[in-house]
Amino acid sequence: MATLDHVVEAGATPPWTLIRRLDYLEATELSDTSTGFQASGLGWPGEAPPELSTGLGWPAERSYPQDAPLPPQPAPSESEFAVSRETTQEARPSTVRTAADLAESTPPYEDEESTPLARAAEHVVLARQGALMRPALERPDATRVVVVANQKGGVGKTTSTVNVAAALAQLGQRVLVIDLDPQGNASTALGVEHRRGVPSTYDALVEGVPLADVMAACPDVDELMVVPATIDLAGAEIELVSVVARESRLFKAIDGHPLVGTAAAAGDERFDYVFIDCPPSLGLLTLNALVAAAEMMIPIQAEYYALEGLGQLLETVDMVKKHLNQRLQVSTILVTMYDGRTRLASGVAEEVREHFPDQVLKSTIPRSVRVSEAPSYGQTVMTYDPGSPGALCYLEAAREIALKGVTA
Ligand SMILES: Nc1ncnc2c1ncn2[C@@H]1O[C@H](COP(=O)(O)OP(=O)(O)OP(=O)(O)O)[C@@H](O)[C@H]1O
Ligand SMILES: [Mg+2]
Repeated sequence: MATLDHVVEAGATPPWTLIRRLDYLEATELSDTSTGFQASGLGWPGEAPPELSTGLGWPAERSYPQDAPLPPQPAPSESEFAVSRETTQEARPSTVRTAADLAESTPPYEDEESTPLARAAEHVVLARQGALMRPALERPDATRVVVVANQKGGVGKTTSTVNVAAALAQLGQRVLVIDLDPQGNASTALGVEHRRGVPSTYDALVEGVPLADVMAACPDVDELMVVPATIDLAGAEIELVSVVARESRLFKAIDGHPLVGTAAAAGDERFDYVFIDCPPSLGLLTLNALVAAAEMMIPIQAEYYALEGLGQLLETVDMVKKHLNQRLQVSTILVTMYDGRTRLASGVAEEVREHFPDQVLKSTIPRSVRVSEAPSYGQTVMTYDPGSPGALCYLEAAREIALKGVTA
């Protein structure tokens, strides 16, 4: 048994500490008489064997517990799982639904108890996943060539062309947009270069270059190709005047493309849709588009003057049908820049519906800042803000157009 003298000789530790420690050793009988003064495991210098060591003692004694194998751990109980948000994969009742919960919930919008704000958030989450959530549309049997025209300026021709085209591509269709407006707005919105010298619609129309050689891919949307328009196209109206069969140049260019036609003729790689964005006039460029297409989409702005000029446009379509292209039909009318707060907008929409009940799409495009901002980023609203009301309405319009299923 160790004595006080014995211990005091061993070091310079203050005696009152040692006395307390000695009392403790005696009381707990950790010292072993058969082996002399043995380790308490609490860390005296020079102490021997670490069998009883806690591993927490003096540096000399420390046995680096992190290197030692772990003692067996008890398996976590069921109740522990229930409170661990990080580890559980199981559905758990929760009052606050996360974005992941919203994305998984099918069908959406069935929770009648959610607040309008929660439903709006749900709407955005679902929409941000874009067309990926939606089943791809069935492809038409043959390429559908659609001219987008209205001689009235600024009614949403270009905006509708690029957004419907992008939406269809997102819905699994292969789409080509031909920019037939020297302003090159569609090329800008689709993020395709259209400075002077770039292969463009002008080369195809005036020089007879194959359409396949002047196409470029839209960088933001898969399966969407673009024939850009450069400022050279402004001269084409005049240059084409003296050219033989000047009104069917575009028809020949499109028809000569190996990926335009039926499944049997053009194969699986064929384009499902070709959209032609026209300038705001009924000149030779628009005439070329009317001759090349089998379908026509007329965007109409929900404003007072919207219907003025429509009569003249339809007369032109009739003339083209009679003399140049019997296949042409006005298949789609799309009301754009619709402001539901005004009676004027709903009045215009109603009137257009009365006159063209079969052609007007159920979806109208709301006036939206996101739609008009998108081109300044070289994007369509479908990629710029896919959850915005404008993008959702263009997606719905695109579905309607596809499901109407008029084939060439
Ligand atoms: N739904 C919308 N909400 C807000 N702004 C819109 C909407 N649709 C189009 N615009 C804006 O209206 C303007 C005219 O649109 P757009 O260029 O598509 O018309 P357009 O008929 O092609 O014009 P142009 O006759 O000059 O070719 C653009 O500034 C566009 O950003
Ligand atoms: Mg335009």
